[in-house]
Amino acid sequence: MPLIKWDESLSVEINEIDKQHQTLINLLNLLNDAMMTGKGKEILNKIIIELMNYTKIHFKTEEDYFDRYGYPETLSHKKEHSDFTGKVSEFRQRYEEGKLGLSTQIMTFLSDWLKNHIMGTDKKYTKFFKSKNLH
Ligand code: FEO
Repeated sequence: MPLIKWDESLSVEINEIDKQHQTLINLLNLLNDAMMTGKGKEILNKIIIELMNYTKIHFKTEEDYFDRYGYPETLSHKKEHSDFTGKVSEFRQRYEEGKLGLSTQIMTFLSDWLKNHIMGTDKKYTKFFKSKNLH
């Protein structure tokens, strides 16, 4: 069963960004499935790296739009992104060093963060970007 299912309630009404969020959710679900079905560390590591890289691409997409259009909540939004990136890097390092295994607790943290961030923080820019003709 997928950890998160994308539906319209997660839409920020900007096509490119909705697609990126869907990709992030798919990667998170893939990692969860791999963990639940006991896949080896090599496979899990590959998905974690893919997830981290794609998260960076996604955050950069949003932040480039913030900078281009002068989004008023840029600073606080960027801070959420960098806090999350820092936390995930820390997880990954501890995982690499064998100090931490992937657990349902970590998967729940990641999926809750993503869902709350999209529904709370990301959705705040919809109206602003729409006023700039971004859709
Ligand atoms: Fe879609 Fe602010 O991350």
